[in-house]
Amino acid sequence: MTEGLDAVAYRMCAGGKGLLAADESTSTIKKRFDAIGVESTFENRRDYREMLFRSDEAMKDYISGVILFDETIRQNAQDGTPLVKLIEAAGSIPGIKVDEGAKPQAGFPGETVTEGLDGLDGRLKDYYALGARFAKWRAVIDIGAGIPSYGSILANAQALARYAALCQANDIVPIVEPEVLMDGAHDIDTCYHVTEWVLKEVFQQLYYSRIRLEGMVLKPNMVVSGMTCPRQASVAEVAEKTVRLLKNCVPSAVPGIAFLSGGQSDEEATAHLDAMIRHGGLPWNLTFSYGRALQAAPQKAWSGKAENVAAGQAAFTHRARMNHLAALGQWSE
Ligand code: 13P
Repeated sequence: MTEGLDAVAYRMCAGGKGLLAADESTSTIKKRFDAIGVESTFENRRDYREMLFRSDEAMKDYISGVILFDETIRQNAQDGTPLVKLIEAAGSIPGIKVDEGAKPQAGFPGETVTEGLDGLDGRLKDYYALGARFAKWRAVIDIGAGIPSYGSILANAQALARYAALCQANDIVPIVEPEVLMDGAHDIDTCYHVTEWVLKEVFQQLYYSRIRLEGMVLKPNMVVSGMTCPRQASVAEVAEKTVRLLKNCVPSAVPGIAFLSGGQSDEEATAHLDAMIRHGGLPWNLTFSYGRALQAAPQKAWSGKAENVAAGQAAFTHRARMNHLAALGQWSE
């Protein structure tokens, strides 16, 4: 018997475990590899991800699930074992990014809408057969002069809702990710108001699409100051405003909320999560679904060299453990 949607959604965010977002597209992983001087080949991408998925302590104790890219869910380790099997063997859940990226939205200069609904039902069936039990779709909202517009927020929220419905019809838990970018000089209150507008619309559209909230995970941005804002909010302010926002927007039927890191430093992403958990009395499990904040350190330590695999695994395990402690409200610097 397969584990039900609700049980998988709960397990993804419970017990201080969180998600590893290792679903960089071929062009994004190339950027990450360029930064460490590694050529982005099929084999190097395999070796790098195999290194992460064979990090036993991290995968067994801290990582509830891994978001994969299409190439990786079909890829084998050096000894021929499917990478998906390595994840399952550690007791972690394989998942898959299914959107096809944020594309310029016609008629909305400077704004994007995420594509990938065409043929999605068939792709979800294939991914289920390959072992995926959850999926991810990322909508991107930018803050700037005169943006975001309601037309763009609505188009993105409707796409998220249609994606989520297709996932649930295929016994796959949807991670619903509306990301309000940190880029820009806007202040934390602008981030608060835009994120509130976006989340209100997303949950309205999820309702219209008849989504079972118990069988989904929300992946939001935190409420933070824009990257180039002269006043950078403290950890306490980020935690207080993010918790207040989520309590105002996210029904308690949603079992888990897993944050993206979005360009925060490794330590900031950990400190913010820890401070939120310490608020206490939260109706959902809060945890991490970090890409950069979990992988920047292991990428640097590995740098594409076989002799650095142990160092890369140690760096990954350290960040995963710090975020695990944060998700329990037990992290200290
Ligand atoms: P970051 O944590 O690097 O923002 O990535 C998370 C993610 O999956 C974005 O879609």
